[in-house]
Amino acid sequence: MAQFRLPKNSKIAKGKVYDHAGNSKNKKTFKVYRWDPDSGENPRTDSYVIDLDKCGPMILDAIVYIKNEIDPSLTFRRSCREGICGSCAMNIDGTNTLACTKSIKSIKKDVKIYPLPHMQVRKDLVPDLNNFYEQYSSVQPWLQSNTPPPKNKERLQSKEDREKIDGLYECILCACCSTSCPSYWWNSDKYLGPATLLQSYRWLVDSRDDATNERLDSLEGSFKLFRCHTIMNCAKTCPKGLNPAKAIAEIKKMMVARETA
Ligand code: SF4
Ligand code: SF4
Ligand code: FES
Repeated sequence: MAQFRLPKNSKIAKGKVYDHAGNSKNKKTFKVYRWDPDSGENPRTDSYVIDLDKCGPMILDAIVYIKNEIDPSLTFRRSCREGICGSCAMNIDGTNTLACTKSIKSIKKDVKIYPLPHMQVRKDLVPDLNNFYEQYSSVQPWLQSNTPPPKNKERLQSKEDREKIDGLYECILCACCSTSCPSYWWNSDKYLGPATLLQSYRWLVDSRDDATNERLDSLEGSFKLFRCHTIMNCAKTCPKGLNPAKAIAEIKKMMVARETA
């Protein structure tokens, strides 16, 4: 029988409050999702009140401050702290984005921080991205050419061909788009999702790649590609300003074009 209630152990409990701002006039509250699989306890939201004069301007600065100064058990991913590695993706103030490029100032009220939605959580703000990376690997995201590279030279492209991968190569695989896509929420085992499909299109339009047909063959069927219903959440949320929905539409056009050729 269908179950319409959340399992008891998934309900988010009220967490602890850490007031670390003293008499500061420049303080802010960060409400952060916490869950430790080893504790056997329900997830909770802890509140950290911090003095903004003591931390940097970005949400990631606040999270690092909380970990260093208040609660070393807070777990999250981060690396580059400049929007390049994609590892600090999380849901901030209701939107999937990068903690390192989102400014604290841009959020007027308390800052609510959750892991990327609709993914299994490993701990606190760390989602399980294994399926996401397996899907990425399934589109064989590397150059496949029938000819050997020219001796002691790069494989050259015309300026026009090179421009075709603009808006695609910049993707940092943060997963903000896929985890904001309703089609991906319900079918992430079968639908590849916007990030992987954008990456697939990056190779489909690369003039140096000869595996176009094989790549399109691998996307056939009703789920992998065609589960996209053009809802556009992906383009709205991408912190790099990319448009995965457009890339998906272009792949669909390529599919139709080869069928009518
Ligand atoms: S398309 Fe944008 S949101 Fe999606 S994975 Fe790439 S950079 Fe992240
Ligand atoms: S346009 Fe497609 S990929 Fe993007 S959010 Fe909508 S259904 Fe998902
Ligand atoms: S830490 Fe690398 S993108 Fe935020």
